[in-house]
Amino acid sequence: MIKPLDFAKTYAEILPELSQAFEEFILNGEYIGGSPVERFESKIKERTGAIHAIACKSGTHALQLALLAAGIGQGDEVITVANTYYATAYAIRSVGAMPIFCEVDFASGLMDSGRVDSLITSRTKAVMPVHLYGAPVDLDALGSICALHGLHLIEDCSHAFGSSYHNTPIGINSDFACFSLYPTKNLGAFGDAGMVLTRSAEHDASVRRMLYLCDRSRSVFPPRAIHAMLDPLQAALLTVTLDAFPGYKHRRQELAGLYRKKLADKVRMLPEDPNSEVNPYVFPIFTDKRDQLLRYLKDMDIHVQVHYDTDLHRLPQFGGLAAGSLPITERHNREVLSLSVHPSLTNAEAEMVSEAVVSFINGN
Ligand SMILES: Cc1ncc(COP(=O)(O)O)c(C=O)c1O
Repeated sequence: MIKPLDFAKTYAEILPELSQAFEEFILNGEYIGGSPVERFESKIKERTGAIHAIACKSGTHALQLALLAAGIGQGDEVITVANTYYATAYAIRSVGAMPIFCEVDFASGLMDSGRVDSLITSRTKAVMPVHLYGAPVDLDALGSICALHGLHLIEDCSHAFGSSYHNTPIGINSDFACFSLYPTKNLGAFGDAGMVLTRSAEHDASVRRMLYLCDRSRSVFPPRAIHAMLDPLQAALLTVTLDAFPGYKHRRQELAGLYRKKLADKVRMLPEDPNSEVNPYVFPIFTDKRDQLLRYLKDMDIHVQVHYDTDLHRLPQFGGLAAGSLPITERHNREVLSLSVHPSLTNAEAEMVSEAVVSFINGN
């Protein structure tokens, strides 16, 4: 059987360091916030070059915190995409705003920056692109559009910790960069975790106010808050995992390179962008026989995943648009299949997965 990931195998190598951090955590006695969280935030800043880092409970909370800190609420609109995880659009709706779905670029599957202008109305307050699969969106173009129209750029970086755009790590030069640190993610915790990076001291303060239910002086209490601080045990363990992160990133990139070579000319895959360095979350491939391929692989005991097959724009809570209203997004959602690049996968396993895909394609 080939599983998409095996945490026990990945973390066996750093088990002594993780166990030591766990012991220290127990003996230290700071079980809410405190120095474990501060140490994690400092290390994130040190390793990425971010100016402000705010740890929180999950990627969903990170998005909600950013939206509220940007002053977004009832009646506002936020432009995003419909080929992402439910949480992206849900976060927008949860603060009372409406997600407005932008069509994606066919080759990259990322927000088509050329179509954003036509979606801007007097209610638009932000653009929320997703660096899907770890591939950076066109931040130059989106940044210019946001600056021109006075909109916030809130990046969903859940797949892209460790990726760069024009040699700048994703998130460090942002208004709001929101990360999920869910266990499967590029930097994964041992439970739910997330964070917001921002270059703005003002945004840092307003996110923290909402997170801690008051400001540092304990005299300003936010009317809306999200009490979703990162569990300090997760922070302590993540601080250890950060040391192993460069090795995990290297391994993800190696596995992606292997698939790229083995599957060249066999299936459609994402183009390589010379402006970006991708730390791949998964390696997506595309075929109009996706569901047959999924069954074929499952019959061979190869377990792969799909990110994502729900047309978010068609859900009633997000406006319930008609089928066919975003044809490129819908095709993406029907054809995409994710090959695992989790560091626990061996080259032999990735080769077996590639050979199985090739044998399916050759036979169909
Ligand atoms: C693109 C995207 N956005 C948001 C989230 C939400 O993150 P979390 O599960 O940590 O709340 C995820 C997590 O899977 C994600 O993949």
